[in-house]
Amino acid sequence: MHSNAERIIYQIYPKSFMDSNHDGIGDLNGITQRLDYLQSLGVNTLWLNPIFVSPQVDNGYDVSNYFRIEPTLGTMADFEKLVTSVHDRGMELILDLVLNHTSDQHPWFKDAVSDPQSIYRNYYLWDKGRAGQVPNNWASFFGGSVWEKDPAGTDEYYFHLFDKAMPDLNWKNPEVRQAMVDIAKFWLQRGVDGFRLDAFIHIAKADFRQDVFTADSQQPQIADEYYANLPQVQEYLAEFVHALKEIKADVFILGEASSADIDLVESYTDPKRDLCDSVVSFRYFQDVPEPQLIDQLPAAGQPHKLDLAQFKRTMVSWQAVLQEWSLPTLYWSNHDLPRILDKLQIEPSMQTDAAKMLAVLMYLQRGIPCIYYGEELGMTAGQLTDPADFNDELAESFVATGTSHGFVRESLLESLSVSHKMGARSVMQWTDGVFAGFSSQTPWLNAKGNGNSVLLEKRDPDSVLNFYGQVLALRQKKLFTEGRIVFEVNDPDLYGYTRFWEKQQAYIMCNLTDHEKKIKLTEEQCASRVKLKNRAQFDRTANKLTLGAYGVLVLEG
Ligand code: GLC
Ligand code: CA
Repeated sequence: MHSNAERIIYQIYPKSFMDSNHDGIGDLNGITQRLDYLQSLGVNTLWLNPIFVSPQVDNGYDVSNYFRIEPTLGTMADFEKLVTSVHDRGMELILDLVLNHTSDQHPWFKDAVSDPQSIYRNYYLWDKGRAGQVPNNWASFFGGSVWEKDPAGTDEYYFHLFDKAMPDLNWKNPEVRQAMVDIAKFWLQRGVDGFRLDAFIHIAKADFRQDVFTADSQQPQIADEYYANLPQVQEYLAEFVHALKEIKADVFILGEASSADIDLVESYTDPKRDLCDSVVSFRYFQDVPEPQLIDQLPAAGQPHKLDLAQFKRTMVSWQAVLQEWSLPTLYWSNHDLPRILDKLQIEPSMQTDAAKMLAVLMYLQRGIPCIYYGEELGMTAGQLTDPADFNDELAESFVATGTSHGFVRESLLESLSVSHKMGARSVMQWTDGVFAGFSSQTPWLNAKGNGNSVLLEKRDPDSVLNFYGQVLALRQKKLFTEGRIVFEVNDPDLYGYTRFWEKQQAYIMCNLTDHEKKIKLTEEQCASRVKLKNRAQFDRTANKLTLGAYGVLVLEG
């Protein structure tokens, strides 16, 4: 890779990508087997969700040994083979590094609990609480308080921002900071090219003796102001990244900053400091303000539609702000969100066209494309059939509430599948055969896919897969890696921008709606060549373009 602007990332959820040894769980050898496919798609950087030893309370985000591969995914030898095979193809590999917490089965935590005098006690966050109560009213992201009683029965509580089996590390402790540097260096020495830093915005916490102001003091409250994006995060991060650069100057750092606004994204990607090269913020995507929900059912299990107008406003301004500064992450989906086609809530018959339009819209912009596995097939949520598969109490109570109100169980599960992150983690669709060619055994997450598959789409010249190949091939031009971007914002139904590089220009026009749009083109546009199109009728002589529902046109001149 000559520069990060040339990066095209493909995100792999290892458990769901390819099972090489027929136990129903995707694995590292499965990824190695599919590298030819990934290379031919045109991606050049692979990001793997966590692959270290883990009790799998949170699918690998609860690490119990940072120096070994999770046995269900493979061995160190399999990992070495994967790295070598990735590099042989001129591609790079980045690993997911969980900095904010460990598993409660990690030896540090076990030692900290079994012996309050242990040096590892101070690796975690403890507090005595207030008169037999938890220290404050801060809520955990996975429900309930961030505080959990010391399992050894002392009068202290430990802090967990996520599941109670995932205690937070104490980043004030220099030994913790050094330990995380050692872990990252260990993997860099084994050939890893960079990291996706999981939840790094939470590594610093405010003084625990503060409550979130609320009328209902009994209910724990989300307390972002006390545990997200505090100024010390940047100090710790700079120290960490600086240490890594000592052994690998061009280490690539992709930060997960879910709640970061544009000002924070700017700070986290300050090119003059050793921080992130690019960050993933979830603020691109908000739901339409007044969703059509069913009153009797909890809102959380019902599908929410993406607010495309808000998305456009946010993206346009972020692209402008970051233009001379850093590379925005360009993505539609990841393992924490429903898949984008589900979020659009459109007719299934229109999904293929929408998928093509969205690929152009997002990935020809300035930044680093990050494609979520299966997105290139137009995959939608896998349909889960057992409430327990969501691994979430909310899902079970959604089905219980719904059935008690007379709703059909299948439709409740359908609603959950398209709105819950687990629906987006279903197995990659390789073939139209049994278990989608992913495995010969029932997959760990048994869900029915939408029938799109690599095998079928390869044969079909009009498939989403072949269109992605064309978009990514185009994306490699200097126009798209280096060019400036200027948006056309007048028509709310359209997403249009121009890329400029030296004397070249590319015009991108996307129809965001399900109805036909007529567009008047400029002289320059009419004199340009068509590079890519779908549902587009381009009439040069009449200066006219007609874009069908979700149609798209890319011109180059
Ligand atoms: C990040 C991950 C998410 C995980 C959490 C805790 O947000 O993307 O999947 O549950 O961190 O590690
Ligand atoms: Ca396997």
